[in-house]
Parts: sequence; C-alpha cells; structure tokens
Amino acid sequence: MKTNLLILLTLLLAACSDQPTQPRTGEDIYYQSCFSCHERGHGGAPIRGNTEQWQPRLEQDEAIILENMRNGINGMPPKGACFDCNDKELQMALEFMLKQP
Ligand code: HEC
Repeated sequence: MKTNLLILLTLLLAACSDQPTQPRTGEDIYYQSCFSCHERGHGGAPIRGNTEQWQPRLEQDEAIILENMRNGINGMPPKGACFDCNDKELQMALEFMLKQP
C-alpha cells in the first residue's frame, strides 16, 4: 500500500513539473512570437509564405539572416521577440514562415 502511494506521488510530481515535455515546433514559435508582425506585414515585415517578399532576403547569406534574427533589424526585435528561442528554434520558425500558407 505504501509503495503504491509512493508511485502515485512520483507520477503526480512528474506530471506537475513544468519541464517542457515536447520541444516546440516552428509553428508553435511562429504563432507565439512572429505572427503579430509577419502574418500581415506589420512594420514592413515580409509576409508569411509571400515568395516575392522573401526572395531578396533569402538571397543574402544564411549567416546574415541568422544574425539579423538574433540581433533584430529595423522594426524587427531581437530574436523576433522570442527571447528564450535558440538559433535552431528561430530557424524552424523561419522555415515555417517560408511555407506557402
Ligand atoms: C515586432 C514585429 C516583428 C516580430 C514580432 C517579428 N518580426 Fe521578423 N521582421 C520584422 C520586420 C519589420 C522585418 C523587416 C526588417 C527590415 O529589413 O527592415 C522583419 C524581418 C525578418 C527577417 C528577414 C531578415 C533579413 O535578413 O532580411 C526574418 C528572417 C525574420 N524577420 C524572422 C522572424 C522570426 C523567426 C520571428 C519570430 C521568432 C520574427 N521575425 C518576429 C518584424 C517582426
């Protein structure tokens, strides 16, 4: 009986811990941080899935794009306002944004 209670407690604790159980996807990050500007082109942001607007940007070096995402550029805040995003997550959000809607 005692053991069962212990197991139950351990399970409950595991379920309540705020450790992220699943890594965020590019889509999660997009809707959490990038959406407000990139969905409608707020402040001149290139619009999601708009090839014409993205093309000239993608012609830049990949490293420059990453640098601009990290540090921000003009109306774009550093890390696109996803302050706890790492480089990989920023890139996943970008990949999601480049897909046709
Ligand atoms: C507050 C508005 C805003 C948010 C939030 C935002 N962006 Fe932007 N973003 C912009 C604007 C404005 C530009 C255009 C900047 C310029 O070149 O003048 C831009 C440009 C970019 C570029 C092109 C950079 C380049 O090198 O040309 C990328 C990539 C980008 N954003 C990714 C993201 C990602 C990923 C997110 C979410 C994690 C995000 N943005 C969130 C406003 C925003």
